[in-house]
Amino acid sequence: MTLFFSGCATEQERAEERNQIQFLIGVSQANLIEPWRVVMTREIKEEAGKHKHLRVVFTDAAQSSQKQINDVEKLLQQGIDLLIISPNDASVLTPVVAKAYKKIPVIVLDRAVEGYDYTLFIGPDNHSIGKQAGKFVADLLGSRGGNIIEIQGLNGSPPVRDRSEGFQEVIDKYGNIKILDRVAADWQRDKAEDEMKKILKKYPDVDIVFAHNDPMALGAYKATRELGLQGVSFVGIDGLPGANGGLQLVKDGILQGTFTCPTGGKEAVQYAIDILNHEKGIPKKIILRSNKITRDNVALYTDRQNEPVPNVKAKHKIVLGFSQLGRESQWRLANSASIKQAAKDEGIELLFTEADQKQELQIQSIRDFIKQKVDVIAFAPVVEDGWEEVLQEAKTAGIPVIISDRTVNLDDSMYTTFIGADFEEEGRRAARWLVQNMQGRTNVNIVELQGTVGSTPAIDRKKGFEEILREHPQFKIVDSETGDFTRDEGKKVMEDCLRRNGTDIQAVFAHNDDMALGAIEAIEESGLKPGKDIVIVSIDATKNAFNAMLAGKLNCTVECNPLLGPQLMKAVKTLVAGRQLPVRIITSEEVFSQEVARKELPYRKY
Ligand code: AHR
Repeated sequence: MTLFFSGCATEQERAEERNQIQFLIGVSQANLIEPWRVVMTREIKEEAGKHKHLRVVFTDAAQSSQKQINDVEKLLQQGIDLLIISPNDASVLTPVVAKAYKKIPVIVLDRAVEGYDYTLFIGPDNHSIGKQAGKFVADLLGSRGGNIIEIQGLNGSPPVRDRSEGFQEVIDKYGNIKILDRVAADWQRDKAEDEMKKILKKYPDVDIVFAHNDPMALGAYKATRELGLQGVSFVGIDGLPGANGGLQLVKDGILQGTFTCPTGGKEAVQYAIDILNHEKGIPKKIILRSNKITRDNVALYTDRQNEPVPNVKAKHKIVLGFSQLGRESQWRLANSASIKQAAKDEGIELLFTEADQKQELQIQSIRDFIKQKVDVIAFAPVVEDGWEEVLQEAKTAGIPVIISDRTVNLDDSMYTTFIGADFEEEGRRAARWLVQNMQGRTNVNIVELQGTVGSTPAIDRKKGFEEILREHPQFKIVDSETGDFTRDEGKKVMEDCLRRNGTDIQAVFAHNDDMALGAIEAIEESGLKPGKDIVIVSIDATKNAFNAMLAGKLNCTVECNPLLGPQLMKAVKTLVAGRQLPVRIITSEEVFSQEVARKELPYRKY
């Protein structure tokens, strides 16, 4: 490990420092002029300062992507053990991040680079922030409606695109609200002030200014003051502490509201340490929660931020109620086992119920957990719709809810966090594998075996799969039926498909391994060779799927990690300690084909 030392340290001081330092982290920052990035850098320094064995070196790209590429190259040459990067332009930085990732772990902050060549992404959901802001602005305007000016950050940057789209999506639902104009002020207060002065001459009848960050909202506010305009409200994003931070601006009544956009600096260092210590179960993506801050809650929010973390050990044994959706697949059994084992390991009392894939049984279980006053409720929802009432009951009872594996069709204020996979990406991965491995064929007829109707994995895997196929018209889904994620149903559905389509099927995409295994039986019974006459790709990566690949009957399985227990217990403890969780924690997953099956099988845990 190479270290950097200041020129004036003595040889002995350098030797002592070298002995103490176990890890060197390089931080490549896009710039140090945006207040939000200054806070991110400060958070990284503060968190790193808690660990004696850690040293952090920073580079500042001063808003130049080329400089940031050079910075990363230099940090790599200097022998950093891990890179934290907050990219200036995510797509320009993608190749150098991928290069670094080949050598060391990489944590990407704030703006996601393209693809998956990094260890962990931590950032906000800007689309959702835009939507929340839209809803807030609409509520402020009320039934009379009104006119908005949107002040955007740097033109073309992903957060600008996502915030603006989310905002527009909500505003479009209101016929009496109009966005009069949009202007880019590059995240800068002074530029926002100048632009706003020009706009106000054109549109004097503005009711609300929505700015993509708080400094720009402040700039716009100053413009109205200078022009002597009253009655305009201002809404921003960031909610930073400090003198001119969004929290203070809300307290002072300058902003009607702001939406916090956590920098992820602290979390990046915490995860960096886990990664460097080779801890298991590091997620692939952490999406941080944004809080709506208004005059009503700003004092409470600020106090909470400053409170020391309560001592969780002083509490009684934590009780977790978990409603499992059923026992339909090998994946589910592994998921249940992981949750039970992790609860035991962490000394958490687990009330565990199974619902035979029936939503009404899950709802009943959740109601029972509420009656029993458990500390935390977690559940894997069988389908997405129909949870509002029972989750409202949990909220009213003050019991936090964690959504695990599949998600619900509700806004994220109804639960504390979602822990699970990126199902859409799993669908894309399955399609990419098919496209790459059946290249050159002029026509590929695909049978799709869908999971449970209305469940997140069935909806999202289909969506991701179709997204990739759209670019390859020779790949056609000729039949798509649900096999409810079970082996028996998978077999029955495949039998029907073979009857309907005869032998003109070239590929099967099964939403899970169990259905693929059922389909394999049906194909064999029809006299065809699965894996040869019909190419099969499925999702989960269970041991059974690996054995089928070794037998040449399954061609590829896309991993969906069921071992969510440790992450879940970590989240439960965090909640009981009174701390906020990220809004989404997305697991890390891979793709396995026949070629690697033999080598990988001994390492499979489920
Ligand atoms: O929700 C995860 C899915 O549910 C798994 O892919 C499938 O096997 C399970 O039944």
